[in-house]
Amino acid sequence: MKNIAITTDFSEQTVYTKRVRELVFNIYGYIPKACVNTFGCQQNVSDSERLKGMLSACGYEIVDHMDDADFIIFNTCAVREHAEMRVFGNIGMTKKIKAERPNAVVAVCGCMVQQEHIAQKLKRSYPYVDIVMGTHVFHRLPEFLYKRLSGSPRIFELSMDNNTIVEDIPVKRDGTFKGWLPIMYGCNNFCTYCIVPYVRGRERSREPEKIIAEFKEMVKNGCKDITLLGQNVNSYGKGCEHGINFAKLLRMLNDVEGDFVIRFMTSHPKDCTVELLDTIRDCKKVTRHLHLPFQSGSSKILKRMNRYYDREGYLQLIKNAKERLPDADLTSDIIVGFPGETYEDFKETLSLVKEVKFASLFTFIYSKRNGTPAAIMDDPITREEKGKWFDELLKAQEEVAKENINKYLGKTYRVLCDDFGSRDGFMTGHTNGTAVIEFKAEQNLLGQFVEVKVLGYENGLYGEIINN
Ligand code: 5AD
Ligand code: SF4
Repeated sequence: MKNIAITTDFSEQTVYTKRVRELVFNIYGYIPKACVNTFGCQQNVSDSERLKGMLSACGYEIVDHMDDADFIIFNTCAVREHAEMRVFGNIGMTKKIKAERPNAVVAVCGCMVQQEHIAQKLKRSYPYVDIVMGTHVFHRLPEFLYKRLSGSPRIFELSMDNNTIVEDIPVKRDGTFKGWLPIMYGCNNFCTYCIVPYVRGRERSREPEKIIAEFKEMVKNGCKDITLLGQNVNSYGKGCEHGINFAKLLRMLNDVEGDFVIRFMTSHPKDCTVELLDTIRDCKKVTRHLHLPFQSGSSKILKRMNRYYDREGYLQLIKNAKERLPDADLTSDIIVGFPGETYEDFKETLSLVKEVKFASLFTFIYSKRNGTPAAIMDDPITREEKGKWFDELLKAQEEVAKENINKYLGKTYRVLCDDFGSRDGFMTGHTNGTAVIEFKAEQNLLGQFVEVKVLGYENGLYGEIINN
């Protein structure tokens, strides 16, 4: 399949950013404040950095709380029902704000609104929401803001354009030494439980030159921990004429000069090639972490999920990974209670967890998503029963996690001090994989690499800085 993505830029919107700047000054008479509320995955966190970039360009000051904000936006997630309910609760809180300050503008964007029934619900039951914009048009925020502030009726723009990538959207990053870098958008896999392909559209990869340029810019600005993002990063470049696949892209980024580490998420096991494993082994700046969601240990369920691998295939992949990257942290996503799953199927998930010994797991009870194939499959197991299986899975992983601790004890890691610790005078950082270590450190070491030896475990790994 050809990747026909067309790259455009932000220039059309720069005209609107200028107009909004003038307009808001006339309306408010002060520098207006904007609050961006983010739900869901890292892709949304990254999109929100672009929303903040656009809002800053429009003359807004970015604030953390919506109480005194003049513009409030909710960047939403649709992957499970729970996430959607939380969003509706939060949007409801803006009713009072709008009643007190009618000049405030409320917007909703992201995966959730891309579903027709949600957009309709917002239209009918949330009259105080001014702007609803889908995942494919979020770069047009300045235009929508300008139109609404100049008296246009409420804006609902949900059109999907599956082959365009917009570059050069202004970005205001949340951190300086850790950052997100999207390399591709959308998903072509159509797992039968998943809403993502419907709300984020088809897979499209950014041009390698654009990625490398942004990557270099981040490194130049002091970023030391960069996570490459995509719904399915390891299918990067598929069908593109430039012939650069994910493994080649990783090598190119690894060769960029500077002191930094590279992470990536999320990968699909079917696209995790031996070439990619070899590349990770060879690239010293790529962390030793593989997130390989297996979802279910039962081949029967994997087929119904449309995952393109079976239990044996997954275990073979893990064997290949462990041979090449013996020290790597393996993590995974699991869904419990997929329609038609029996306790026997679930036991296969349990046994796989015990066999692979994952460093950590993201576990979910199946959530029915309207419009996906699984939503119309027979689902006879009660929620209560699924809850029991879920608890059993958590217990099994707790046991595995206890055993895994030994792997870190006594080892020394090059760690980026990335946060303050739970006690004064302590900081935290990550091993070369995903585990978090706490250690005593001068607080001005935030954002610096140090060598830390792991000494023990007490509610988490702890260690001490050596040779610094
Ligand atoms: N129900 C429960 N979990 C889901 N996920 C995706 N869709 C659903 C759903 N309908 C989980 C998968 C995926 C992760 C991001 O969210 O495990 O890997
Ligand atoms: Fe959903 Fe599958 Fe795409 Fe992941 S790869 S986002 S689980 S459809």
